[in-house]
Amino acid sequence: MRAAIVEGLNGHPFLTDLPEPPEVAGAVRIAVEWAGLQPTDVLRVLGTYKNPVFPYVVGGEGIGRLDDGTRVYFGHSVPPHGAICDTTLVPEAEVWPIPEDVDAKQVIALAIAGLGAVIPLEEANIRNGERVLILGATGPVGQIGALAARQMGAGVVVGAARSIDALQRLKDRGVLDAVVQLGTGDDDGALAKEKGERGYDVVLDPLFGAPAEAAMRSVAEGGRMMSIGTRAGRTMTLTLSELRRRHHHGVDTGELIRSPADRKAAFQRLLAYAKAGNWDIDTVEYPIEQIDRAWAAQNGSPHAKIVIKVAGDV
Ligand SMILES: NC(=O)c1ccc[n+]([C@@H]2O[C@H](COP(=O)([O-])OP(=O)(O)OC[C@H]3O[C@@H](n4cnc5c(N)ncnc54)[C@H](OP(=O)(O)O)[C@@H]3O)[C@@H](O)[C@H]2O)c1
Repeated sequence: MRAAIVEGLNGHPFLTDLPEPPEVAGAVRIAVEWAGLQPTDVLRVLGTYKNPVFPYVVGGEGIGRLDDGTRVYFGHSVPPHGAICDTTLVPEAEVWPIPEDVDAKQVIALAIAGLGAVIPLEEANIRNGERVLILGATGPVGQIGALAARQMGAGVVVGAARSIDALQRLKDRGVLDAVVQLGTGDDDGALAKEKGERGYDVVLDPLFGAPAEAAMRSVAEGGRMMSIGTRAGRTMTLTLSELRRRHHHGVDTGELIRSPADRKAAFQRLLAYAKAGNWDIDTVEYPIEQIDRAWAAQNGSPHAKIVIKVAGDV
């Protein structure tokens, strides 16, 4: 079968021919139709996420069919199997049936990225009318966070990122009410301009580092910053007076602290939010043969969820 593998630290995935996975107790084989790429796939190859054992098949999530034809989403394969291949092996508890009528690319855009947005925002407990700042708003986590925050009762949703064109497109679609361009030399000033009278009540932070530091200084008294990613840095430095009367939470939505049943329930809530809000998350599609191009795009700032077409129709 075809599989995109990476052979060693700092390597690049390439397509090769591998034997089909064997039968393993407690796991099921899935004929993959679509797969997704995400920032942690890149971090894993760099050795900074999940202690990689090489070689392995890249890709952490996908959609495919069980032997009986059931259409399923999966978020974890049994190592060294992954998602970007014709057939993968997945623990039974990580196989989540999905309806035939939902768009595969949207489900992949929603799953890991969506849980990374919705779980922290649920934990922030947004009150009606609150002002919510979404950092990294142009990426999949940010786009979903903006849409979810509004459905959870946010009064104003402000999006911040470096690309003003991508931000403006989201504002034009009504996803964001206001935009803040980061990275022009004065993140503090830019974020303060849109903080309203009180400051931001809730911040969804997939960036950490300098932009999150600046954002914390614009948080309202009693406000909550929910950090779930490190796209801009792995550390943050704040004085106590900058943190005082504000709350910072580091959130993990993954399998290390949440059972498959909890994550499955959150996934069902996510699909319900998306259906109710008629969400349309930006995706960009590559065929499996172009894994190198998809990988290069994920290493940059694609402003969309990258989905890999393995064998499926929409
Ligand atoms: N903790 C969890 O359970 C969980 C779950 C899902 C995702 N995550 C994490 O959440 C983060 C976001 O995921 P994503 O898929 O939305 O990622 P992404 O598309 O790669 O990045 C999101 C946005 O961040 C901005 N950005 C990228 N690098 C930046 C930098 N150096 N400085 C400032 N802004 C930068 C980009 O916008 P501009 O180019 O416009 O600035 C991009 O659109 C990742 O770190 C991911 O691993 C965590």
